[in-house]
Amino acid sequence: MSGRILCSLDELAEGEPRGFSLAGELPLELILLRRGGQVLAYRNRCPHTGINLEWLPDQFLDHSGRYLQCATHGALFRPEDGYCLRGPCAGYALEALPVVVKEGQVVLEE
Ligand code: FES
Repeated sequence: MSGRILCSLDELAEGEPRGFSLAGELPLELILLRRGGQVLAYRNRCPHTGINLEWLPDQFLDHSGRYLQCATHGALFRPEDGYCLRGPCAGYALEALPVVVKEGQVVLEE
């Protein structure tokens, strides 16, 4: 299997994003989100300052539970495409990362 296994699909609850830190030559922080039967991944990096979105582990949602949120500035991002609707980076988007589900595993493609 090419790519990097992040977790098993069973470890991702619908609508509950999780953060991952990958070490190695190219360290990467990312957010995984299972939504409507799909698994989405974004780089955990706000488009305007480059900081991580969360203050506490896996706390990526706003109080409504509908949007990904920057804990520092309250910017809101649509979970389906990472687009920033409100905040200092409005009009920009989180960087989407290619993930697939193979044999029950969530895999970050090369
Ligand atoms: S760092 Fe960009 S909205 Fe907070």
